[in-house]
Amino acid sequence: MTQTPTTAQKATLTVGDQTIELPVITGTENERGVDISSLRKETGLVTVDPGYVNTGSTLSSITFIDGEKGILRYRGYPIEQLAEHSNFVETSYLLIHGELPTSEQYERFRQRLRMHSMIHEDMKHFYDGFPSSAHPMAILSAMVCSLSTYYPEAMESEEEVDLLVCRLLSKVRTIAGYSYKKSVGQPFVYPNNSLSYCANFLYMMFGLPTESYEPDPEVEKALNLLLILHADHEQNCSTSTVRMVGSSQTNLFACISAGICALWGALHGGANQRVLEQLQYIDESGGDVEKFVAAVKDKTSDQRLMGFGHRVYRNHDPRAKIIKDACHRLLNHLGVTDSYLDIAMRLEEVALNDEYFVERKLYPNVDFYSGIMYRAMGIPTNMFTVMFALGRLPGWIAHWLEMRDDSQNRIHRPRQIYTGEQLRNYPT
Ligand code: CMC
Repeated sequence: MTQTPTTAQKATLTVGDQTIELPVITGTENERGVDISSLRKETGLVTVDPGYVNTGSTLSSITFIDGEKGILRYRGYPIEQLAEHSNFVETSYLLIHGELPTSEQYERFRQRLRMHSMIHEDMKHFYDGFPSSAHPMAILSAMVCSLSTYYPEAMESEEEVDLLVCRLLSKVRTIAGYSYKKSVGQPFVYPNNSLSYCANFLYMMFGLPTESYEPDPEVEKALNLLLILHADHEQNCSTSTVRMVGSSQTNLFACISAGICALWGALHGGANQRVLEQLQYIDESGGDVEKFVAAVKDKTSDQRLMGFGHRVYRNHDPRAKIIKDACHRLLNHLGVTDSYLDIAMRLEEVALNDEYFVERKLYPNVDFYSGIMYRAMGIPTNMFTVMFALGRLPGWIAHWLEMRDDSQNRIHRPRQIYTGEQLRNYPT
């Protein structure tokens, strides 16, 4: 349930001979922020905060993170408990609706996801226009935006919102599966609606029209876990993008498509692909982990240890620990030995004992081990960020809905400090 933040405390700001009082907003977990919304009106000043390192862009009741303590909760529930007991469909419901579903609500939600799994037959032709080498993130974002041409309906009633949200959640999975099939030149496999959400995705990825395919329940479980761990992460780059684009009142599909593009970058969701490429590079160049770590510390190069570091977590990323354990379990189950896992574990050990990483509080993040799991499942490297997007979708939707229902919401329009030329005349 959303709680009203308190504003009992005040902060005092003095600029020259003017002093003003600003309210301090305190959230339910005692997170505090100075409300500067009246600053410009009262003083003519704006705040400057490159990278929004200290900016709380909104009040939100979806996800809580304490980066110092390594805590992550969706709607109050610890990520560790959701990872152990929930599945992706239930967690999606929780994020979007704010509460865990009753058995009836769960059945109805599941049923809707099943009913809306197909994409319009005409949309299949769009894939013909993409080169087979196209990155699946580019295809995903284009196809999701294209959905708005098929579903231009307004979202007025709760029923209309619910229907469109279910369509999006279900169809994105099909779009992702088809992107993979396109890249390997295989025929598309229609969804099999007798399967669960994750099993159906695996079926569309690895099934063939000519053969029967039964997803491995352990792989399905591992996929559920990975998607749950990625499902939301409060005001990260892609979610803020979804909110930013949505603040102009454009449609849901366009906002999610923009979020997918933001996620694609190497510093955000694209890191999982880059981690695997780094592991491959280390493996192929002799496996010298120390040499690689020395290279990423070298400030003359712009190379980073991908899958390490986080803007918010300064102690550990709780998702990384869960993924590391799950990675061992999955590889054991599949009977896979992967030299990349050995390299990753050596990298982690070397980095965690290195002053450079300790001083800067850099730890493995969610992307460090997830790629090794995807690889063991047979998912190709260039699809890793698509998997992240599938997982993050309910979070994006929840934030979009929260923003849309917020009566205080205004178009997002940051200010700047201008540093260019002063007025000059055009040469005649
Ligand atoms: N390898 C080497 N040095 C690093 C790394 C890294 N992975 N991450 C940060 N640093 C250094 C950085 O060079 C800087 O050093 P100095 O103070 O000497 O200039 C210091 O640590 C602080 O880094 P920053 O770039 O100011 O930190 P940030 O909060 O702006 O960036 C980050 C956070 C995640 C983008 C960054 O840690 C990074 O680039 N990590 C690698 C990419 C990655 O794994 N991204 C996935 C993040 S988790 C999934 C998601 O939600 O997106």
